[in-house]
Amino acid sequence: MSSTDRRPVHVGGELLASRASGGLVHLSVLAPGIGERFRPGTAVAVSVGHPVSRSRLARRSYWIHEVKPVGGRGLAVGLVVEPRGAGSRWLAEAPVGTPLELTGPLGRPFALPQEPVACLLVAEEYAAAPIFPLALRLRERGCAVTLLLGARDEAHLMSALEARRTARAVTVVTADGSVGRAGRTADALPEALASSGAEVVYAAGPTALLHAVAAAAEDHGAWSQVALEVPSPCATGLCFGCQVPVVGEAGTPRSARACVDGPVLRGDRVRWADL
Ligand SMILES: Cc1cc2nc3c(=O)[nH]c(=O)nc-3n(C[C@H](O)[C@H](O)[C@H](O)COP(=O)(O)OP(=O)(O)OC[C@H]3O[C@@H](n4cnc5c(N)ncnc54)[C@H](O)[C@@H]3O)c2cc1C
Ligand code: FES
Repeated sequence: MSSTDRRPVHVGGELLASRASGGLVHLSVLAPGIGERFRPGTAVAVSVGHPVSRSRLARRSYWIHEVKPVGGRGLAVGLVVEPRGAGSRWLAEAPVGTPLELTGPLGRPFALPQEPVACLLVAEEYAAAPIFPLALRLRERGCAVTLLLGARDEAHLMSALEARRTARAVTVVTADGSVGRAGRTADALPEALASSGAEVVYAAGPTALLHAVAAAAEDHGAWSQVALEVPSPCATGLCFGCQVPVVGEAGTPRSARACVDGPVLRGDRVRWADL
């Protein structure tokens, strides 16, 4: 395998650690062959449910938050799961040592700028998972990184402390005002864009926020890249169950598959009204 080989692999992994933090659960998963191909913005698909009685057919995708070596056993990927439905609860409650089937890394990552430009990174709740490693890569390239992080409350906010270590400036917004400013993440966008002087805006989170980011970036004359969460039943490009309406290079409407053409797409290419 070359170090630039980005094709996903299907591997047997193992849950190495599980730690609840507020309303989120941080997992460390042994994922041989996946961590090596990781780029910020890619995800891993996990087959959820007991392998013998496999009651849930669709794989569930999770952003890769970090990659770490585990003594002599290869690389582990860090995932951040919000337990909310059957699959995520199964994963969040799985005991350490549980064998897991994994496919990844999936899709196209965030594209990094050629020049060291100012960047604004916007994310809500667990979707900040790919934004932290992206911030590190951008800093390594000399980019000035500003973070805008939002959540419904403190329990669903990813570490504000880690954010302050990662970025030049951080704004935190919670809907209930339990930490940072009270309000909606989208409402803080114009000020964050102006104060950061961002030429590129990266975002991950719910569709409404991504749409707001794409629109605000365009108003500001900046490029945007958005990481979409579209349910991806096969996660391999075969079933066409994850189509996103986009504008093609020639300006004609077409569809992109979120799992292979995305999950990161240019904000100005998504036909938001048709989603
Ligand atoms: C690229 C990407 C990255 C993501 N990253 C994260 C992340 O970092 N953290 C996080 O918490 N979530 C993430 N998600 C969302 C995650 O994939 C799940 O949708 C979420 O965990 C809820 O899944 P669930 O099984 O708990 O909910 P459910 O409501 O049980 O299921 C979710 C989806 O699976 C379908 N489904 C349910 N049961 C079956 C079945 N038996 N057979 C077939 N289909 C079924 C549902 O229709 C639904 O579309 C991401 C999604 C995408 C696409
Ligand atoms: S999920 Fe099957 S093609 Fe994307």
